[in-house]
Amino acid sequence: MQIEFVEFGPAAGEALTAIAVLVFEGPVLSEAAEALDQQTGGAVSRAAAGRFRGAKGQAVELVAPANLHASHLMLVGVGPQADFDGAAAEAAGAEAFKALKLSGATTLELRFNAAPDLLARAAFGARLASYRFDKYLTKEKPEKKPSIAAVRVASADVKAAKAAFAPLAAVADGVSFTRDLVSEPANLLYPEEFARRVKALETLGLEIEVLGEAEMARLGMGSLLGVGQGSRRESQLVVIQWKGAKDKQAQPVAFVGKGVCFDTGGISIKPAEGMEDMKWDMAGAGAVAGLMVALATRKAKANVVGVLGLVENMPDGNAQRPGDIVTSMSGQTIEVINTDAEGRLVLADALWYCQDRFKPKFMVDLATLTGAIIISLGNDYAGLFSNDDDLANGLLEASAAEGENLWRMPLPPQYDRMLDTLAADMKNIGGRPGGSITAALFIQRFVNGLPWAHLDIASTAWKKPSTNAVIPDGATGFGVRLLNRLVAENYED
Ligand code: BES
Ligand code: ZN
Ligand code: ZN
Repeated sequence: MQIEFVEFGPAAGEALTAIAVLVFEGPVLSEAAEALDQQTGGAVSRAAAGRFRGAKGQAVELVAPANLHASHLMLVGVGPQADFDGAAAEAAGAEAFKALKLSGATTLELRFNAAPDLLARAAFGARLASYRFDKYLTKEKPEKKPSIAAVRVASADVKAAKAAFAPLAAVADGVSFTRDLVSEPANLLYPEEFARRVKALETLGLEIEVLGEAEMARLGMGSLLGVGQGSRRESQLVVIQWKGAKDKQAQPVAFVGKGVCFDTGGISIKPAEGMEDMKWDMAGAGAVAGLMVALATRKAKANVVGVLGLVENMPDGNAQRPGDIVTSMSGQTIEVINTDAEGRLVLADALWYCQDRFKPKFMVDLATLTGAIIISLGNDYAGLFSNDDDLANGLLEASAAEGENLWRMPLPPQYDRMLDTLAADMKNIGGRPGGSITAALFIQRFVNGLPWAHLDIASTAWKKPSTNAVIPDGATGFGVRLLNRLVAENYED
């Protein structure tokens, strides 16, 4: 759930409105801050006279200043005026929302006097910051519920601001869709339910197919099916197509997501503490689904395929055992040494299916694949592994522009041997050293000579506490913005 109501128009500032204005490093009052300073008999400059320097991340709140109808006035520090850009506008919109959401004001009015594209970014920031997964809160105290129900962005050129906001609103919808999926508990969001929610996206013009276990067995997907074999829930493979290019037959780009709706570890069961986190082991598939929402909603001029491998990894009398050997769709056999290294088994068949059927320009997979990537990079970077420098660089550029950080990791050929085993073509773990790398090398064995990148998002899919106002605590939606930009910048007509 996010704030639906965003409007652009003249400044109004009526009662129960919180007005946010910018202050640059100095402090240097913005035009709107200056005007309000006049109107309030100097209240703004008095409030800015303390330690507030207008630095990024600094803010001062004034409650009910004299001669102003609004209930709150917030001075948002944004750093040096010369550096004020889209990212700063987005952060300011988000900070303002976060700081004022419980204030009692019902409208947040951003008076940022900036160019239309910057105003749109500010609205985008506020909307992303407004996300909340509250559908199961039945007894929340009213004062804990956000009071802000609408965001108004004061704009001189309403038409231009609205036009700049439309594609961003589509991206916010995608992020919100992903966050909803990732936040749902596993008793309510299991493979078939996930597939149903994606199927409902046909109304956006997406083409969606859902394959069940019988069809996957016919295709020879022994690797994916082995993971879901211990679950009462049926495994699903969801194929989403967006044909937005002029030539509907043109070669698509493809995104593949790990969708383990719950990962107990299977027979190689995980410890009890923290296991509840494994409801978000489907965040890769969630991000691909949200990306498709964003692309379809903004009618991206590209052909894009999304493939989701949806399973539940459970211990059971019918579960796969350590030592079992499965045959993947590629024909390669895998010895399952550890049933908790299941994501790569799902991706092996989902990636093979994707390239076999669609022959895409490239494939990017997203997966909460390894705990080791959290050890390597901490919680502000996802791992990027790729066999192609152009694709990797495109991803790094999109990453920097969207603030969804990636760090490129190596794929050393000499480590690939760590996956060798006696009785099958490979085993599914390579040991603790370089755990994220051997996981990526495993996946690479299922990529048949096309550009490919793997994003290990175990580090970034969930944040608690979050330090970024654009990302409320919980599901981040990581990947949607990044991949939307990758497509927008490089692969549209
Ligand atoms: N889903 C986990 C990885 C994970 C860990 C995601 C923490 C998010 C937070 C994955 O399936 C897993 O269990 N990986 C094992 C691999 C090991 C058995 C080689 C891991 O990381 O410990
Ligand atoms: Zn696992
Ligand atoms: Zn997992």
